[in-house]
Amino acid sequence: LPNSFTLPSGDRIPSVALGVWLAEKGKVGEAVKLSKMDTDTSTALGHTGHNEAEVGEALRESGIPRKEVWITSKLWNAFHAPGDIEPVLDESLSKLGTDYVDLYLIHWPVAFKKDTDNEVDWNLTDNPYPTWQKLEELVEKGKIRNIGISNFNIRRIQNLTSNPLKVRPAVNQVELSYWNPQPELVKWSKENGLLLEAYSPLGSAERVKETLEVPEVKKIAKILGITPAQVYISWHVQRGTVVLPKSVTPSRIEENFRITRLPQPLFDELEKAATSHKPERSVDPSERWGVDIWN
Ligand code: A2P
Repeated sequence: LPNSFTLPSGDRIPSVALGVWLAEKGKVGEAVKLSKMDTDTSTALGHTGHNEAEVGEALRESGIPRKEVWITSKLWNAFHAPGDIEPVLDESLSKLGTDYVDLYLIHWPVAFKKDTDNEVDWNLTDNPYPTWQKLEELVEKGKIRNIGISNFNIRRIQNLTSNPLKVRPAVNQVELSYWNPQPELVKWSKENGLLLEAYSPLGSAERVKETLEVPEVKKIAKILGITPAQVYISWHVQRGTVVLPKSVTPSRIEENFRITRLPQPLFDELEKAATSHKPERSVDPSERWGVDIWN
């Protein structure tokens, strides 16, 4: 299986990256240092704001050269206004102790009014182009190497890409798991050359136990002599997506970076099982925010 995918910029993004969203304080640093071990080209982090300082500290302590690390960060909903983006990015860069991020994502296809946490700014939500133009400017400035989106459905992607973009979206980071495998989005993204990144690839902390007990996966794991988590992580990469398994457990981090191609009949069996039940999302703030994100 590929250990990286090539982005429109020509940069190569690692196919398996360590997700540190929701990782407990104090454990992130250790996880970051460890994730170096099984990635020969680069260490990769997928994360959002609240543990950036800790990630930065771990990176400094590790002594890993900046260019060997892949850092993804995200623009929060309350900072979509063009004037608010650079200051909040600068804050992230300073916490991370770096002068650029490899990938910067619009976290949700929803903009909030400044200083609010659920008052939707409908102009910037319906028209994300001004936000995108500012991000393009920051690519020119060298503070961002690749721009992407997160939690965008096909309609919202097309709403963005119908503008005369100078920089194409490099990735769309979405929930992809056994419970919510989104086959239509996977197919559409492949056809349209947009790389997907899978978050909550093991069904998230609440469901991971149940996910690893799925009979088809246990069977495949047994046949191949690997763990159920490795079956899922391999399946995601084999579907053509970057995968971001979260873990703060050293042995699991190591385990999660060791992927292997599933023989086609076994891959097909897992794909069929995942897409034969009613999809269930584990992350959905729609109601809380008063906006239907998926429409
Ligand atoms: P922990 O961080 O304690 O190691 P997801 O990536 O879908 O959000 O799932 C995250 C959850 O999966 C966390 O609870 C994490 O636990 C657990 N997890 C990650 N990797 C493995 C693994 N290889 N085996 C079992 N559980 C895992």
